[in-house]
Amino acid sequence: MELIIAANWKMHKTAAETAEFCAQLRLQEGRFSKVEVLLCPPFTALAAAAAALEGSTIKLGAQNISWEEKGAYTGEIAPRMLKEFGVSHVILGHSERRHIFGEDDTVIRKKLERALHEGLLPILCIGETEAQRSAKKTASVLERQLHAALEGLDPESVGKLVIAYEPVWAIGTGQAASPDDAAAAASLAHAVVEKILGDKVGSALRVQYGGSVNAGNIGGFVSLPPVNGALVGGASLEPDSFAELIVAAGEAAGH
Ligand code: 13P
Repeated sequence: MELIIAANWKMHKTAAETAEFCAQLRLQEGRFSKVEVLLCPPFTALAAAAAALEGSTIKLGAQNISWEEKGAYTGEIAPRMLKEFGVSHVILGHSERRHIFGEDDTVIRKKLERALHEGLLPILCIGETEAQRSAKKTASVLERQLHAALEGLDPESVGKLVIAYEPVWAIGTGQAASPDDAAAAASLAHAVVEKILGDKVGSALRVQYGGSVNAGNIGGFVSLPPVNGALVGGASLEPDSFAELIVAAGEAAGH
């Protein structure tokens, strides 16, 4: 299965910085074998990214969407506005959206349904906090998040799906999960998605690991079969080291 390595830039990079990054990354694109590469810049940089990536295999994702199609929703961004720039994927349920901006399972579910309806491929983030991990609640938290987002959806409407397992305590801390723990969570996600949505969605599912991933540790994650890629924050902001991360992932993925 092809790996998917996605860059989540969060609130970093202007349009001009994005254009420069894309030009630099494209110089190395020929080295990205066996890996699907996705950049998720801020909304304001999508037009610059789309222009700079024209003719490239590098794809574009958004970091958020509205659950509404259009209307009087000040400050919101609708999927159709993003598709105009060739956006194909959207990150949903990121822990920063859950914990800083108060998005709960209900909001995430509505956004997921909107993304599917509009033909955007969701990257659904799940993950436990430090306290939940200490209380040995990791599996139950992941199951709850997956059920809340996916239970009752029509498998035909889902098609392809990406889940990102991002333990909250590993995000931006320099303290990544162990590859074995990431693989255990990824296995659970594969099993739960298959149970909820059936074989077809289950076999097309890719599960990423996210949380302090870098060029030095990516190989340990993607060499384990349940882990099908990574969602990368800090280590995706500099083009040369992000390119090294992608190359290392492709080399380590022996599956
Ligand atoms: P870091 O790679 O900076 O830990 O961020 C992970 C993340 O939140 C990606 O969505």
